[in-house]
Amino acid sequence: MKPSSVTGAAIGRIEAAEWLDGPAFQLANAVALPQRLAGTPGKRVRNALHGTWFGHPVHPMLVTLPIGTWTLALGLDALEALGTEHGRAYGRAADIAVQAGAAGAVAAAATGLVDWQQTHGRPRRVGLAHALVNSAALGLQLTSTALRRRGRRREGRLASATAWGVMFVGAYLGGHLVYRLRQGVDQADRSVEPRGFEPVLPAADLKEGQPRKVEVWDEVERAHIPVALVRQHGRIFAMGARCSHMGGPLDEGWLLRGGLVCPWHGSRYDLETGQPLDGPSTCPQPIYDVRLRSGVIEIRRRQEPGAEAVTPEDIEHAAEMEQAPRADAPLGRKADEVLFEHHELLRRMFRRIENMSPDDPQRRDLMRTLASELEIHEHIEDEIFYPAVRPVSEDVSVAYAEHQQLADLLAATLKLPTSSPAFEEHLRALHKAVDHHASSEEHSMFIEAQRLGDRRLRELGHELETMLEEQRTSRFQRAFRELKIALLAETGREA
Ligand code: FES
Ligand SMILES: [Fe+2]
Ligand SMILES: [Fe+2]
Repeated sequence: MKPSSVTGAAIGRIEAAEWLDGPAFQLANAVALPQRLAGTPGKRVRNALHGTWFGHPVHPMLVTLPIGTWTLALGLDALEALGTEHGRAYGRAADIAVQAGAAGAVAAAATGLVDWQQTHGRPRRVGLAHALVNSAALGLQLTSTALRRRGRRREGRLASATAWGVMFVGAYLGGHLVYRLRQGVDQADRSVEPRGFEPVLPAADLKEGQPRKVEVWDEVERAHIPVALVRQHGRIFAMGARCSHMGGPLDEGWLLRGGLVCPWHGSRYDLETGQPLDGPSTCPQPIYDVRLRSGVIEIRRRQEPGAEAVTPEDIEHAAEMEQAPRADAPLGRKADEVLFEHHELLRRMFRRIENMSPDDPQRRDLMRTLASELEIHEHIEDEIFYPAVRPVSEDVSVAYAEHQQLADLLAATLKLPTSSPAFEEHLRALHKAVDHHASSEEHSMFIEAQRLGDRRLRELGHELETMLEEQRTSRFQRAFRELKIALLAETGREA
């Protein structure tokens, strides 16, 4: 049985363990009670434990303390057990590391507990198991400290080593909570739409203090994105209606102390900035700029730093650059024409190799030439074309990713004997991948690139042609590429 099916079955049993719900409910209530009794200071402590003030969950940072120190203790214990020269000193250092880790584990448990308190269903059960396993690790380390103090060092070291293994299981469960069950990850809609102002509601339909949902359409996501509109003291605000904590409907929430409160777990968001004022959320809501035109509310997504969003302003900026071209820049064919021609060359080469007999001795050489041309193509796009079109096209990050995939697939194909059935299969897959990539460039990125203007595209075309020529003719470049292709073909060759 594969390890994944063993762990999958174990996790599945925890996720389905409904009998855990009763104790979990009791524990969650017990955790909430002191905070309720303490009132506002209690809420402040809870916000701090969630990480609301920090803008990020605190729990994953604190867990590094026990993981780091207990791992250090394991190494120091081993040095003591081996009877090395300074064995006793290593032992003393291990004792301190075990205790420091225990203090860190208590802090991590406190933050984890308040986060867990807001979970439900499967995540709550797995979270409880995660807490129990980590508590067992902590218990073992505390036992170890007691044993070490009594001079029973061997048993103490054994307890610590066991705790280290138990901690690993706890970490596995923690990873499952985040990566599979999506606990603690941002659940808000991060759509970049609408990029320009869009009418959404007659202003008269939005009552003071009564949030209301409107929707905007995102063509790429093929989804309606809900937005909560709020009027407070006559001013209108708009923020993403899906709560970043767990997706609660903010448009069904209410206003409290200048913030919009989520009806599910009570996160409160600043209307102006979207920042959480009260947890459990630690992540800001998407925010929209608002304006009124002829009595109608219009909204525009306020783009986030580093967002890959081409806005009408970017396109305008690109057009302005076109009006002020560099007078001395040499011009060639347009960049998209140069690249399209090269795509066609690659397609022809694929067809030729596919039509050759598997035993044709030239097949291998042609395959290497194709590999070389493909490398050159990716290189000139990565270096010149993609950076230039980035301000006017959102396809660039996916295109970079596809280049990586093409390189992986090419490497796997080159390792196969050209007469083998596996080579045929890989060649077809590579052809398909190149075709998909080139076609999406031709149908989307090249069209968006026209926003750069004719002159800029001709400047880029000249740069591309120059680099293409240089890559093909420079002895150094050729030798380097051939060596790389030969290495790819020879290393890890499949029999
Ligand atoms: S979904 Fe939990 S606070 Fe909004
Ligand atoms: Fe490309
Ligand atoms: Fe291309």
